[in-house]
Amino acid sequence: MPTRAWFPTYLYHEPLQKTGLERFNTELADECHRIRDYDEAGRKWSAKNYPGGYTSYASLNQLHEFSSTFAGLERKITAHVRKFARSLDLDLRGREVFMTDFWVNIMPEHAAHSLHLHPNAFISGTYYVVTPPGCPGLKFEDPRLSKFMAAPPRLPGARPHNLPHITYPAKAGWLLLFESWLRHEVATNRTNAERISVSFNYNWR
Ligand code: NI
Repeated sequence: MPTRAWFPTYLYHEPLQKTGLERFNTELADECHRIRDYDEAGRKWSAKNYPGGYTSYASLNQLHEFSSTFAGLERKITAHVRKFARSLDLDLRGREVFMTDFWVNIMPEHAAHSLHLHPNAFISGTYYVVTPPGCPGLKFEDPRLSKFMAAPPRLPGARPHNLPHITYPAKAGWLLLFESWLRHEVATNRTNAERISVSFNYNWR
C-alpha cells in the first residue's frame, strides 16, 4: 500500500469492571444526587454556566478527596489510564500518574455541553453512571479540522476514521478516555430522563 496513516488520535472505551456494575452505579447515582443537593455553590455556578443541568466542575472538583465512593472509583480508573498511556507509548517508568480533578455532571432533558477541551491535564475521560436510552453520546472533533483549508468534502460512505467527527454512545458502566487536548461536546439531551456521568483529569510527575 503506497498510503499509510501517521499521527493517529486514540480513544479508549472499556467497561470499568467485569461484574457488579449495576449495583455500583445505583449507589454512585445516589451519591451524585446527594452531592448536588449539598453543593449550593455548584448549583449557582451551573445555573449560569451549565444551563439546565448541574456540574460540580467549579465547586466540588476533587471528589476523590471528599468521598470514599469516588476514591474507590479513582483507583479503578487509574488502572485503565495507565493501560491507555501504555498504548500511547508514553514513558511512565518511575513516574506517577495521578488524578487532579474529579467532578459530577447531571444533564436532565434539554441540557447540553458545548465544544471544549481539558487544559492542564494529559489524559481526561468520563465514566457513565446513568444513561437513558437515546441520550446523547460524546462527540469528538478531528484535531486537524482547522488545517484542512482547501480540502474537498468527504465522499458519502467515507470510512468512519476519515470523517471529521466521531460520536461514542454514552453507556452506563463504560469508561471513555482521551488525550486532554481533543475537543468534544455533548449534544442536547432530548430524552425526558437524567443522564449522569462523572469526569476527570490526569497529570503525571
Ligand atoms: Ni469534557
